[in-house]
Amino acid sequence: MKTVKIALLGIGNVGGGVYRILNEDKASIGHREGLACEIKYVLVRDVNKPRDLDFPKSLLTDDFNVILDDDEIEIVAEFMGGIHPAKEYMIECMKKGKSVVTANKEVIAKHWPDLNRAAKENGVGLFFEPSVAGGIPILKTLWTSMQGNDIESIYGIINGTTNYILSRMTDEGLTYEAALNDAKKLGYAEPDPTNDVEGYDATYKLSILASLAFHAKVPVEKIYVEGISGISPIDIDYAKELGYVIKLLAIGKKNGETIEVRVHPTMIKKTHPLASVNGAYNAVFIKGSAVGGLMLYGQGAGRMPTASAAVSDIISATNPANFKYTTFENTYETPKCLNFKNDWECGYYIRVSVHDRPGVLASLAAVFGQHMVSIQSVIQTGQREDQVPLRIVTHLAKEQSVKQTIEAIKALDGVIQVDSLIRVEDDI
Ligand SMILES: NC(=O)c1ccc[n+]([C@@H]2O[C@H](COP(=O)([O-])OP(=O)(O)OC[C@H]3O[C@@H](n4cnc5c(N)ncnc54)[C@H](OP(=O)(O)O)[C@@H]3O)[C@@H](O)[C@H]2O)c1
Repeated sequence: MKTVKIALLGIGNVGGGVYRILNEDKASIGHREGLACEIKYVLVRDVNKPRDLDFPKSLLTDDFNVILDDDEIEIVAEFMGGIHPAKEYMIECMKKGKSVVTANKEVIAKHWPDLNRAAKENGVGLFFEPSVAGGIPILKTLWTSMQGNDIESIYGIINGTTNYILSRMTDEGLTYEAALNDAKKLGYAEPDPTNDVEGYDATYKLSILASLAFHAKVPVEKIYVEGISGISPIDIDYAKELGYVIKLLAIGKKNGETIEVRVHPTMIKKTHPLASVNGAYNAVFIKGSAVGGLMLYGQGAGRMPTASAAVSDIISATNPANFKYTTFENTYETPKCLNFKNDWECGYYIRVSVHDRPGVLASLAAVFGQHMVSIQSVIQTGQREDQVPLRIVTHLAKEQSVKQTIEAIKALDGVIQVDSLIRVEDDI
């Protein structure tokens, strides 16, 4: 049996789960893989901190150099989070011939070029399956199971916090604030939830996913992002009436050398498989040229699901045959041949508050027409009230034309305000 010595950088949520699997499943991993994974060090900030995990405290160190300088350590698994010093630690380890496994989506999304180069130049492995969609083996699927496809599109529910909040709002009629409070109490949302609810976490994951799917580096800065904090129960109810549910979708599409990447609340048909992904669950729906549509579903975060992906990477990292480096140009600059689109096409749902008087609807319709935005349906509820809601759903329209339309209708006599705009994806 081959023995591999490992160091964990961090033993919080994810690191703790990895420790548990490698210890509790030692016999079955040994039996199945012919491998003994021995954890020699665990790096932490504070060696004296009380911990909820039962493990020999002699493994703990707060000195990274002890790990770096130990030639017995073949694999370093980073579960600290943040950019610094995680990035520097990983690069230094790779320079010393150690393979790296990480769950750190932010550092991969922002510093993949440096990390990929360090791995390639030093002939070691860089594995990051747990960084996207926790326990769902989506990156391995893209790397090793879909080579016979050009990937046309990906649609992901890849943030559990926002999916939990939207599910509670949809199923129980909760307000955004009430659902967010429950998410915090249950540990699905951080005390400062900005990164999740404003969509940034999903952009890191989409950057990694889209790069692998489209075989081109997709920088985080090219991703349009809009979070869920503006979603109201009224729009959720109206979406239901129209046969839709609202999800925070991470969308990537490629057509020739043109790529569109965006994260925003999206209305999808309630009959689509993604519509039934509820609670903190994640799913990724991919369309490949040969396979057609395919969906992976599972737990996108949490100690044991994320550790499941990390342990798989640790096992992969024991065999150089599994080392993979990106064959696309993985640089900080966007390749000149790629065109990132900010004028994509989709449907739009727009809710406007107007005064209920003759002529208002006609003037609104005229503005849509002037901007070449074709209206599919208009629903007005309430009558002879000071303020009535109009719900407009468009046919496929261009993003920039819709934005100009919105600006123009805000200035119309009789229009009180534009309350919401939610994109609609009918053709997933
Ligand atoms: N939690 C999830 O469900 C999940 C899912 C997917 C991916 N991830 C990613 O996994 C990573 C870890 O997340 P987590 O939730 O496990 O974090 P966590 O519970 O906060 O644990 C972080 C661990 O890293 C240690 N650490 C942090 N900074 C350090 C430093 N500068 N030097 C030494 N040790 C340091 C901490 O030491 P102390 O114990 O001494 O404080 C702690 O043990 C993040 O990149 C996160 O984005 C998490």
